[in-house]
Amino acid sequence: MSATTLTAAEVAHARAVTPGCAPELDQVHLNHAGASLPPQVVVDTQREYLLREATTGGYELAAERADDLDAVSGSIARLLHAQPHEIARFENATAAWNAAFWAVPMKAGQRILVHDHEYGANTVAFLRAVEEYGVVIERVPSEDSGQVSVAAMADLLSRGDVALVSLTHVPTNGGLVNPAAGIGALARSAGVPFLLDACQAVGQLDLDVEAIGCDFLSATGRKFLRGPRGTGFLYVRESILDRVRPSQPDHHGADLVASDRYELAPGAQRFEYWEYDHAAWLGLGAAVEHALGWGTDRIEATVVERAAQLRERLVDAGFRLYDQGVEQCGIVTVGSAQPDGPTAEELASRLTEHRVHSSLTVAGSARYDVERRDLPTLVRLSVHYTTTVGELDRTVAVLSGV
Ligand SMILES: Cc1ncc(COP(=O)(O)O)c(C=O)c1O
Repeated sequence: MSATTLTAAEVAHARAVTPGCAPELDQVHLNHAGASLPPQVVVDTQREYLLREATTGGYELAAERADDLDAVSGSIARLLHAQPHEIARFENATAAWNAAFWAVPMKAGQRILVHDHEYGANTVAFLRAVEEYGVVIERVPSEDSGQVSVAAMADLLSRGDVALVSLTHVPTNGGLVNPAAGIGALARSAGVPFLLDACQAVGQLDLDVEAIGCDFLSATGRKFLRGPRGTGFLYVRESILDRVRPSQPDHHGADLVASDRYELAPGAQRFEYWEYDHAAWLGLGAAVEHALGWGTDRIEATVVERAAQLRERLVDAGFRLYDQGVEQCGIVTVGSAQPDGPTAEELASRLTEHRVHSSLTVAGSARYDVERRDLPTLVRLSVHYTTTVGELDRTVAVLSGV
């Protein structure tokens, strides 16, 4: 049975515990794909820890709160249906993704299978891997809907010698949700490591790494999870550990047992570094617990409904949508329908003037997609479960110059 959306009373409650939704601010936040607005509990968790850290001492407080700090991996594991020892903490999604990518063995001539919606940072890493190892980057075709073709992936995998399958679950722009589980099943049966960039998926979609079948999943804290900036994490499937090696472990990721010998730490910890922002990590734990409290299936249902309502309003008002996908999420990408209509920059400044937060697409963040579809700069509006229909109406009225 599909999950129910949050009721109006629940959305009102979610807003009441979000400082950035305070009515006196008179603002509409449609930039959750950039950085969301944290709930009060996240801010309080971070603030309390920071204040105590300043008086207690960083090492002393870390020792006192060791159980709470460890518990964050448990929260993230519950979010993903993983095990706590399969979670490594990072300061952002890019660092997490790179830790996985550069741990996978690659040889000259081997192929890396990627898709049209790879994030810009990932694309740079592919180019570095070509320089470093002489691998070949092969782009799996999209279906007409824009999502990755599972059939084409099957065909490309059957030709052998693939070092890695890489997929961005939800692209930075364009609204689509790639069929990650279909790709996971293929990668698993071909025995090829599968790295999923779930940076824009975590927090807005209900995710299950068992169902998806990925070996790695990277994510950030500040976007749809509503956690602090400077947080991220990597899921590493336990069974992939004997096939990959962290490229740059430290003496936390590895035990330096003698001056000429180290042993990698068990589990995903081998990918972490010793130093991190403890307050932010605890804040991320609070954000994850907050999301789990609502139920990620209900969050997903609410986000998908709100984004569909926004798309409908934008089309009715004469705008052009650039979203794709059989399944669509909370990221809405829009431009003027008329060639002589306002530019995306003009639309965005209208929004800013009226206290509606949006963002503009950046070509380098989605280079494959921008070139393939010859996309202009667009306005990206990203909703969350805290977004109200009234906010959608206000946004569309501002865009229309009403
Ligand atoms: C699809 C995707 N992957 C990765 C990232 C990178 O995340 P971070 O900035 O936390 O490194 C982003 C950021 O926008 C993204 O949209």
